[in-house]
Amino acid sequence: VEDDVAGRDLAGRRVVVSAGGTREPIDPVRFIGNRSSGRQGVELARAARARGAHVTLVAANLAPDVAAQVPGAGLGEVVAVETTAQLREAVRAAAASADVVVMAAAVADFRPVHAPGAKIKKVPGRGPEPIALVENPDVLAELAHDRLRAGQVVVGFAAETGDADGSVLDHGRAKARRKGADLLVVNAVGEGRGFGVDANDVTVVDGAGEVVVTASGSKRAVADAVWDVVARLAADRAD
Ligand code: CTP
Ligand code: CA
Repeated sequence: VEDDVAGRDLAGRRVVVSAGGTREPIDPVRFIGNRSSGRQGVELARAARARGAHVTLVAANLAPDVAAQVPGAGLGEVVAVETTAQLREAVRAAAASADVVVMAAAVADFRPVHAPGAKIKKVPGRGPEPIALVENPDVLAELAHDRLRAGQVVVGFAAETGDADGSVLDHGRAKARRKGADLLVVNAVGEGRGFGVDANDVTVVDGAGEVVVTASGSKRAVADAVWDVVARLAADRAD
């Protein structure tokens, strides 16, 4: 049984949360993937459930310890996916009847053009063939553009490192304006932050890149801070 500290401000709402990281096959035994554990996404799903939402979790390759928490999490539905194409189909199917979609999954940006049905063999002394890649669809940008349901709140996540072109927040604000989502949750990754660890520091920005709220603490605390904002927005739109 989940505790109920945040109240039931998502009661009756249908939410979709994607979590984990997609993997794109190179051949039957290899893939291109990323380090996302799915921890933040699963915490978002559990927090939404505790606040009364009906939750569909689209789970892409969760870390084993995170996956172990899912059956006991009291979620509505869990759809396991592997690739970006599968995640896109599952998210869009559930989003058609959802009040809120949160894209917490780390989606592979590129996939191999061809994934042969047989294992790629090395030829000793001859280097590997290059792997040609093609860009994946941007699931979040599509959701923000298509608005599969009237009044739907669309939320993205952005894991950023600062670089010569700007800070973590600079990149997050530019991304928010590019994506067209209602909210983007920006967090710093790398050097022991973000991936695989329980603590998180986030800045939530709106579609114009303006800061709405900052939150830090456990991934559950961050999840509840995100839902505080989303629940208010969803309630405004339902009026
Ligand atoms: N996302 C998505 N589909 C993709 C890539 C990303 O839906 N093909 C979503 C992620 O789930 C996340 C948000 O977009 O909610 C931001 O992902 P991110 O990787 O930070 O953004 P990109 O636009 O891919 O930019 P880049 O990786 O170059 O920083
Ligand atoms: Ca990306």
